[in-house]
Parts: sequence; structure tokens; C-alpha cells
Amino acid sequence: MPSTNLLFKIYQSLIFKLPPEVAHSLTLNVAEYIYKSFLKKIISTERVNSQTKIMGINFPNKLGLAAGFDKNGEYLNFISNIGFGFIEIGTVTPKPQYGNEKPRIFRAIKDKAIVNNLGFNNKGVNYLKDRLKSFDKNQPIGINIGKNSQTKIERAHEDYEYCMSMIYPFADYITLNISSPNTEKLRELQSEKYFDNFLKRIKLMHDKLSTKYKKYVPLVIKISPDMTHHEVLVLCNLIKLYSIDGIIATNTTVDKKVLSNDDFLDNKGGVSGNPLLEKANNVLEQVTKNLGDKTAIIGVGGIMSKESAQEKINLGADLLQMYSGLVYCGTSIINEITRSLK
Ligand SMILES: Cc1cc2nc3c(=O)[nH]c(=O)nc-3n(C[C@H](O)[C@H](O)[C@H](O)COP(=O)(O)O)c2cc1C
Repeated sequence: MPSTNLLFKIYQSLIFKLPPEVAHSLTLNVAEYIYKSFLKKIISTERVNSQTKIMGINFPNKLGLAAGFDKNGEYLNFISNIGFGFIEIGTVTPKPQYGNEKPRIFRAIKDKAIVNNLGFNNKGVNYLKDRLKSFDKNQPIGINIGKNSQTKIERAHEDYEYCMSMIYPFADYITLNISSPNTEKLRELQSEKYFDNFLKRIKLMHDKLSTKYKKYVPLVIKISPDMTHHEVLVLCNLIKLYSIDGIIATNTTVDKKVLSNDDFLDNKGGVSGNPLLEKANNVLEQVTKNLGDKTAIIGVGGIMSKESAQEKINLGADLLQMYSGLVYCGTSIINEITRSLK
């Protein structure tokens, strides 16, 4: 019987012949179909259980699926049965949108990296809400929200407020994604100029929703790896001031120099995977130094092995997430990491 790793290598060599976006949706549609059927019982991966309580939530283990992998909650049966301790779905926006022009995902295979310029392509928050209504979850689900590309930055908070109000009862935590490089000006929300007012508005809506639903859903901010030391400091101070529950460090980097050649220098979009590790870890380190124990820290960016996962834990991460590691290593990497962290 060939090993799972060998089977994955064979599958990967075939699927990598297709454009990344096609490969992603083909693989996930087939996987979801299989996991929804009776086969689920035979092939589901046993999850490593090393319970940990963060933000008041019980996580079966510390490794989660990062946002963007399942933007519309369409592959929930598959992604909840491959060993993760939690999954984050989205980014969703109030209205459905196509995103940026194709092609908008590229593989930098030698570097084990992905360059993506998707631009929040998604079916809208109402669609996601309907998917969640009919899903019987077996682990915490975070919902990652953003703004439509047409919404002016000055009114961005309205999009986040709307999304929050739609998905609040279904989320274990909510991530405010203000760090994607693929929506014009979005990252400006992280700046001193906008962040204070943005958080003020969000917290007001959060108070209203927790009263309405008699349920406290933690709020988490996802940040970019491309900020200066000063910018990270300002951001952390505001996160403390507004008692935000958690931070995700980091999203993709716009710095194409992290790649080993110049092939993508002129491409728009953000780099994820192996070459992101160092930058993401620098920001993670600063964040853990600036935020006390009260804020949960989720480390993401460049986790491709148990060693890189452990590095983030050593830098102070309470939880971890991965995306590109799945594309390059297959699902067996999940248990390899969760077993080693245990
Ligand atoms: C194709 C692709 C799409 C992504 N879409 C989103 C998204 O919609 N929202 C988000 O917050 N992050 C998104 N990300 C960023 C990931 O969640 C993660 O922060 C980043 O890829 C770094 O982790 P990695 O090195 O393990 O891939 C996306 C990443 C990739 C590669």
C-alpha cells in the first residue's frame, strides 16, 4: 500500500499542471463531496486532542486553518475532518463580489510560496450565513470579514458592522481583516488615522450584538507583516485600549524580494508560504512583546513543518494557522504538527 505522502506527491504533480484557482476549487469540490458521503467515516483523520482554552473558547488543538481557503463555507465537511483544532472561514464582504481580474493566483514552487491577488472574491455574507445555518459543527469556527471594494475607506466600518450583525450568532470568534493587500487602501485601516475611530465603532456594534444575543463572541484583528515597528506599537496600544480579544499575525506580504528570484517583482498581490516566515515572525515577536497576556495571539505565515510551527509557539503564539503548507505538504502535515506540539 503506497504511503499517504506518496499518494499526495502523485496527486500534486498532476494537479499542479492546472492553474492554481482551478486546482483549488476542483480539489476542494471533490474532497467535500467525498467527506459528505459515507466515505467520511472511513477516511476522516483522527484529530490530535490537546485541549486548550483561549479567549474563553475550548480548542481541541492549537493548529487552525487560515482564512481564504474556504471563503464561502462551502467545504466545511472536508476542512472540519482533517485534524485541525479550529477553522477560519471567509473573508466575506456584505455584497458578493468577483474580486480582481484573473489570473490572480500564482505558485512559486521552488520557494514553496503562493502569490495571490484575489481581492476578496466571495459570495457575500448572506450566502455564508445560510451555509452555517445548516452545518453541524464539531470544532470552533472563526468568521473573517472585510469590506467591499466599492466601499470608501471612510465608511469601511459600516461593512464590518453589517457583516458582524449577520454572522454573530454563528461565530465562535470574528476576525476583522484589515490587512489584505489586494483591496485598495484596506491596509490604511491599520493606521493611527483610521484605526481608533474604526475600533470605537466596531466595539459599539459588538456591545449591541452581545446584549442582543446574550453571547460574547471574541473579536480578533488580522494584521499585515509589512508594518514598521512604530506602526505595530501604535496598533497594539489601541488593541489594548479597546480590549480587543485577539490578534492574528500575519496576512501575506507585498514584499516580493522575499522570493528567491525576480519572476514576481511586477506582480500585484501578497506572498504566503515559506518565504513569509521570517517577516511574519518579526511582527509576531513585536506583538507578543507589546501585548500582555490578556490578548490571544494567533501566529500564521510560513508554517510548513513542525519546526516552523514550534518557532511561533516559542515566540509567544497561543494558537497557529496555516494555508500554503497544505498546498505544498498535503493534509498529513496537520497531524505531524499537532502531534509534535502536544
Ligand atoms: C490564495 C490565498 C487566499 C487568501 N485569502 C485570504 C482571505 O480571504 N482573508 C484573509 O484574512 N487571509 C487570506 N489569505 C492569507 C492567509 O490566511 C494567511 O494569512 C497567509 O497565507 C499566510 O499563511 P501561510 O504562509 O500559511 O499561507 C489568503 C492566502 C492565500 C494563499
